[in-house]
Amino acid sequence: MKILIIGSGGREHAIGWRLALEGHEIYAAPGNPGIAQVARLLPTTDYLAAAESIQADLTVVGPEVPLVAGVVDAFRALGLPIVGPTQENAQLEGSKIYAKEFMQRVGIPTARFVKTESLETALHALSQFDYPVAVKADGLAAGKGVIIAQDRAEAEAAVQTLGPKLVIEEFLRGEEVSFIVLSDGRDVVPLEATQDHKTVHDGDTGPNTGGMGAYCDGRIVSANDTQKIMDTVIEPAVRATGFTGFLYAGLMMTADGPKVIEFNVRLGDPETQPLMHRLEGGFGDALLRAATGSLKGATLRWKPEPSVCVVLAAHGYPGQVRTGDLITGSEGCGAQVFHAGTKLGTNGLETSGGRVLGVTSSGPDLATAIDNTYEAVGKIHFDGMHYRKDIGQKGRRRWPRSGSASI
Ligand code: AMP
Ligand code: GLY
Repeated sequence: MKILIIGSGGREHAIGWRLALEGHEIYAAPGNPGIAQVARLLPTTDYLAAAESIQADLTVVGPEVPLVAGVVDAFRALGLPIVGPTQENAQLEGSKIYAKEFMQRVGIPTARFVKTESLETALHALSQFDYPVAVKADGLAAGKGVIIAQDRAEAEAAVQTLGPKLVIEEFLRGEEVSFIVLSDGRDVVPLEATQDHKTVHDGDTGPNTGGMGAYCDGRIVSANDTQKIMDTVIEPAVRATGFTGFLYAGLMMTADGPKVIEFNVRLGDPETQPLMHRLEGGFGDALLRAATGSLKGATLRWKPEPSVCVVLAAHGYPGQVRTGDLITGSEGCGAQVFHAGTKLGTNGLETSGGRVLGVTSSGPDLATAIDNTYEAVGKIHFDGMHYRKDIGQKGRRRWPRSGSASI
């Protein structure tokens, strides 16, 4: 198939890499220098024109922004197959207030919350919660619109920074899991569960980011919990919306069962990098079937080896980012390096965004997968580079004995 991928980050590089391995002809708009290794780049954000110019058999949308802007509706109006949700359903990610009210209406388990539209109601709402409390901006914020406030002073500061249109919600305790399914509006195929690492520093400290690394291991969610998630979260959401594309439930596995922290309407970044690394086959077929309403019976095949992605971030990320630093050592480092914020400068590959590279590898067990990935990370350099040293360690602590994932 001729497949157009919309986007320019590490997730899109991983999708293109996987689909190229399956023998498809890949195009990307606008893409990045890493994606150019597996795809032909179309330097445009006019995605309809791009798809028509190459007569794409299928278009896959990576990021949320074009989805929220209605790219799927525009493609469908012309009868062009595309993987993604309608503009209306993209509101599940585009507005936290919309998503929380949806969950409340449909009965999907989530944290108790109050929505606020003014500074005054926000400050008043704070008195209804214990600490820590989660303060969330309503609109899209690239993963940086959430502050976990430890006390009243921090919560008031968060309200000032993110407000006034907010969701304020109860802090949930438990293991955080990214559970993503592919849907054609009726039938769904779940992907393997992954775990992201949202904060910038080790030990889940520091401000939130778009994600500093993720791993995929068949043991992250048990078969029993998978069924619970399908029954209480995924099925009701798809039934109520006719959702098409990738529905990403960010879950907290609490003592009371899985609860939704957020919905995203696309694949996760960086979750996609270890997912694609661990996939063995069936991806292109499942995507086409999701876009054409024939997903029933499709299967994704997974390798038994766990996979790990460590994000290398630029100086200043997740705050003010410096760009233009020369990147060395990424070629031949011994891992698959997915490009996110890179560009080709006069001296070679340079940083051009906050999350620069996603170094991804696997191993016969999680501990080896982690070691293999960090060994490759050690060969890469750019000024200001920083990364978490504990990606995958949560899994390692949960399963101290080595051994491959059971699938
Ligand atoms: P969100 O963008 O809503 O996924 O929030 C970003 C991150 O903040 C999540 O991945 C969690 O790590 C954390 N977080 C958000 N809401 C809560 C909550 N209610 N309880 C605990 N942690 C939360
Ligand atoms: N890694 C979290 C996200 O993609 O939203």
